[in-house]
Amino acid sequence: MDFLDEKIDQYVCEHTEQENEVLYDLNRETHMNVLIPRMLSGHLQGRVLSMLSHMIKPKNILEIGTYTSYSALCMAEGLAENGKITTIDRNDELEEIIQKYVKKSGNQDKIHFLSGDATEIIPTLIWLSTKFLLVAI
Ligand SMILES: C[S@@+](CC[C@H](N)C(=O)[O-])C[C@H]1O[C@@H](n2cnc3c(N)ncnc32)[C@H](O)[C@@H]1O
Repeated sequence: MDFLDEKIDQYVCEHTEQENEVLYDLNRETHMNVLIPRMLSGHLQGRVLSMLSHMIKPKNILEIGTYTSYSALCMAEGLAENGKITTIDRNDELEEIIQKYVKKSGNQDKIHFLSGDATEIIPTLIWLSTKFLLVAI
């Protein structure tokens, strides 16, 4: 999403760790083929999410709004050993690209994608007594 002036964003990105190849390809494919690509976190926000996840090392992350999975892939980088992300999106047209890039990243065991409305799914997760240490939207 565009929060910063273009020149400031460019400067910050040039002085921030680069996206890996999978994230770069996902960013590009989202912009080419998916509606409203400005919803994607992108390079800078993705690196911030990765940093937060590395600092907290959560065992469980709950994300509401997977979109094409860019943020989920970034947060997966900092999970504790055997940690998991549960990520929910109600737009079922996104499932194919989500599954493609989760597989490409090699994080299939860490990222659990649920298709549906978070307001209906979350009560079922709470019933299972899962404690989430990082919640992202
Ligand atoms: C801003 S995008 C998420 C961006 C993504 N986290 C990223 O960083 O690339 C918001 C997403 O939330 C999803 N969404 C909105 N309301 C929802 C709901 N009630 N349940 C599940 N998904 C929802 C939309 O379908 C959309 O894909």
